[in-house]
Amino acid sequence: MSSSLLFLDSSTSTASHLLPFSRITTPFNGAVSLRRSVGPLNVRPFVLSPLRTLSVNSSNNPSPVINDKSGGEASAKIIDGKMVAKQIRDEITAEVLKMKEAIGIVPGLAVILVGDRKDSATYVRNKKKACESVGINSFEVRLPEDSTEQEVIKFISEFNNDPSVHGILVQLPLPSHMDEQNVLNAVDIEKDVDGFHPLNIGRLAMRGRDPLFVPCTPKGCIELLHRYAVEIKGKRAVVIGRSNIVGMPAALLLQREDATVSIVHSRTKNPEEIIKHADIIISAVGQPNMVRGSWLKPGAVVIDVGINPVEDANSPRGYKLVGDVCYEEACKVASAVTPVPGGVGPMTIAMLLSNTLSSAKRTHNFQ
Ligand code: GUN
Repeated sequence: MSSSLLFLDSSTSTASHLLPFSRITTPFNGAVSLRRSVGPLNVRPFVLSPLRTLSVNSSNNPSPVINDKSGGEASAKIIDGKMVAKQIRDEITAEVLKMKEAIGIVPGLAVILVGDRKDSATYVRNKKKACESVGINSFEVRLPEDSTEQEVIKFISEFNNDPSVHGILVQLPLPSHMDEQNVLNAVDIEKDVDGFHPLNIGRLAMRGRDPLFVPCTPKGCIELLHRYAVEIKGKRAVVIGRSNIVGMPAALLLQREDATVSIVHSRTKNPEEIIKHADIIISAVGQPNMVRGSWLKPGAVVIDVGINPVEDANSPRGYKLVGDVCYEEACKVASAVTPVPGGVGPMTIAMLLSNTLSSAKRTHNFQ
């Protein structure tokens, strides 16, 4: 039986996975005073745990019936994004300190938040905290919901011209009266740590070209596959969702890694049939538990980008967070799965810090 997908393709549909950033100072009268926040330079030993090797079942003939290899018990490995993100933050902390000691330069990230969305404010706060934790300077501008596009672009231009800023991030979504394209195009491609500038996306899509930055969430997904030694080359990968922030760049990245990639979206006929052939699935649609265990090929690797709140009377908050993929079911069929929370979410911020560090290194020609 065919099914239709209920998800949205909007760029905000996966926004909820972002973790939270910096200090600001934003009087809502348009005058913004910038304060710099320098995080403690905690250097922790850089210890990477050995890679676990996962083999992906690459049979082209998936069984229509789910083989529950474990007799009903969960058998998938858990891809621990929280742990990997911590390792990456530790690596970045050490590199930021090395750069500061060698050439006296500290990477700086500027974040612009427009409007009063609570979720966006939380993500921005978390990004600021993460900067502080690795010793990256953070700058924040908060503007009221009714700001004009020109006002936002004015701050972008200031950050473009500020040598202490190596990365600029405009938190999305923007208020609906703004043209996202005009705003994102204003970010200097050399400081586009989100990787959303059309030149960076265009280069990502082209063979033989390299973007200066790769969007953080898809980059985090691929990093998890690499760190868990999941082979991508020659595998069938399905990306669920085609948002500009996650789905589309994730598909481009998988293709660059020599996977054969399909994109399943709201207009796809028989999505289950396509997903069932996938060795690797990246889901980014923002629909709780949409992908069932029976949709998965036994042995598939599942990267779940969705972070969706659902009612939970047992939780003191009254809700819990779940992914796009039904976790309990996936654990019985897949060979490896990211949990929600604690999977892709922490990786997004780690990749933002990594992009900011790379930008500072490139600017100052520091290896
Ligand atoms: N909103 C949701 N995800 C993102 C992201 O990765 N970057 C920005 N700038 N805004 C977002």
